[in-house]
Amino acid sequence: MYQYLLHQKIKKNCNEQLLDIAGVDHPFYIRFIANANTLQDLFNAIYGNQKNATQHFDALLVLIIESYKQRKPVFRKKDQLKEQQAAWFTSNQIAGMSLYVDRFAGSLKNMPNQLPYLQELGVNFLHLMPLFESPEGESDGGYAVSDFRKIDTRFGTLNEFKILQEKMQAAGMYLMIDIVLNHTSHHHEWALKAKAGDKKFQDYYYMYDSREIPDQFDATMPEIFPESSPGSFTYVPECNKWAMTVFHQYQWDLNYTNPAVFNAMLSNIFFYANLGVDILRIDAPAFIWKQLGTTCQNLPQAHTLLRLIKQCVHIATPGMALLGEAIVAPKEIMKYFGTDAFTAKECDVAYNATQMALQWDALATGDTRVMLAAQHELLQKPFGTTWITYTRCHDDIGLGYDDSMIAAAGFNAYEHRKFLKEYYSGSFHNSPATGALFSVNPKTQDARISGSLASLCGLEKALSVDAAAIDTAIAKIILMQAQSMFLGGIPMLFYGDEVGYTNDYSYLNDAGKSYDNRWMHRPIINWEKNALAKQKDSIEHRIFSATQKLIQLRKSLDVFTDNKNLTWLSPHNIHVAGFIRANENKKLYCLFNFNHKAAYITWFLFKEHGLAPTELVDHWSGKKQKVGSDHEYLIMEPYQFAVFEIN
Ligand code: GLC
Ligand code: GLC
Repeated sequence: MYQYLLHQKIKKNCNEQLLDIAGVDHPFYIRFIANANTLQDLFNAIYGNQKNATQHFDALLVLIIESYKQRKPVFRKKDQLKEQQAAWFTSNQIAGMSLYVDRFAGSLKNMPNQLPYLQELGVNFLHLMPLFESPEGESDGGYAVSDFRKIDTRFGTLNEFKILQEKMQAAGMYLMIDIVLNHTSHHHEWALKAKAGDKKFQDYYYMYDSREIPDQFDATMPEIFPESSPGSFTYVPECNKWAMTVFHQYQWDLNYTNPAVFNAMLSNIFFYANLGVDILRIDAPAFIWKQLGTTCQNLPQAHTLLRLIKQCVHIATPGMALLGEAIVAPKEIMKYFGTDAFTAKECDVAYNATQMALQWDALATGDTRVMLAAQHELLQKPFGTTWITYTRCHDDIGLGYDDSMIAAAGFNAYEHRKFLKEYYSGSFHNSPATGALFSVNPKTQDARISGSLASLCGLEKALSVDAAAIDTAIAKIILMQAQSMFLGGIPMLFYGDEVGYTNDYSYLNDAGKSYDNRWMHRPIINWEKNALAKQKDSIEHRIFSATQKLIQLRKSLDVFTDNKNLTWLSPHNIHVAGFIRANENKKLYCLFNFNHKAAYITWFLFKEHGLAPTELVDHWSGKKQKVGSDHEYLIMEPYQFAVFEIN
């Protein structure tokens, strides 16, 4: 319903802030009015019952206007351009890489010097791992932030960050950084005040005088790091209280039942938006709402808060898209795109963590049935949203897809996961992989997997075997990258994988890292090694040039834009995963053989979906294939993939 009073309030605020609502600021004003009702409803759904609700809502309205006012003209211009291309982030022209500035380039200052390397690879979108101040030794790779607005001296200065952003923008590159929404470091100013006994700031966190409530929470909350940080609460001797610490003991969970926390974190979000961030990675959104008697993950209120953030960002800084880093069960991941009236109005992007893990599943088993069983769920992703598609990132690989998906392929879920964990941690007889189990839970036997793309694909072991083993490892690496490149979504490489970095065990000598084996797959770049990418026949060259070619291929074919234009094939062979990407002009058959043996595909596969082709051309190899009769076969080599188009 139209809300006259709300409309008047916004108008009055805009006038007080000297906005020209009939002139240059008109588009902003229209966006504000058009979304004001929804904004208020979402706010009230969470905070409406609180005694100071109106005061906090009014502060929120002012914050939106101020943040818009602070937006530089270049970013406003970019907002407009992005608005003209609906869902700009679904484009096939974007290819990303996630990297640690210090481990990749040494410092922010030096980062611009490394942009040409990335551009040569075809990367035009960077996820810079956390750069804001975070205590050394207790930083969780930067995910324990002690100051959301100060760049950590380890990386450089805010000014250097701004220079990098400008250079990236001039080069047509997109930028992503994190907002670590769920928690702060216990060294954050708010936490320090809470420790000193300031009640106001104790209310920014979940703090309790005794174990009574913490014990009740612990009874139903799964542990995230059961080995290094068991339980979800930590005793704080300074104030004699227990603080909720779902992740590490030095990461204090923020209390979003407090509207002051919401407004303060929204203000940080706008600060990042106004640094020119194109996609904001919302870290661990599944955890932002807690309720006794639940797992405290994926609760409906967490979604309401994300929708509220989305509305605010859409009004003030609309060019910034939101990525929800929800690494949870497939059904739960889907909800981060929004549901019902909020479909495609929550997070614009989410990690396709299910698909990522399923590719590792298929690579170990040589069987693609579990992957196929999950697709019905994944295809529910709304139009106008997209995935981050990836094979590796800075985190572990969780085997969090549903038991029913494993059962659909005829396996026992427990035994199947046990096999995968043994295979990738290298304990399975003759496993080519070198990795490790991460966060083993002794109570449930749950575990995740650490290891670099190359090591998990067998390169680390192959180096001391023979050339054939190296060839196989490289073929697997490229197969894995190819599938995530063509599936639809923004492909996100992890730095180092483009030249085949194997595991780095030096983290074991650093007390701030040795408890966390995710560091084994977070390399320190040795530019002499990367320079080998230019040396023909080197391993680095083979992987780099193939990755480069994959990106080029993706960018050259519009059909790879994510328009929900994907249909999975039943390839008549359990070892091969296949899908069609199609638009009105083009139809591609993408096929991936996950097996160590050649696979036979009936030619009928290419005929059961429309016109029967007589000849196919593979965009990857450039080779042509005559289509045979139905009793004949296309033969795919071990770990071969193809992108066929009807010739
Ligand atoms: C996210 C990050 C992970 C971190 C966690 C806690 O999941 O990806 O690296 O440990 O959040 O902030
Ligand atoms: C859990 C969280 C995920 C985080 C990971 C860190 O799986 O769900 O958000 O990235 O832990 O290992």
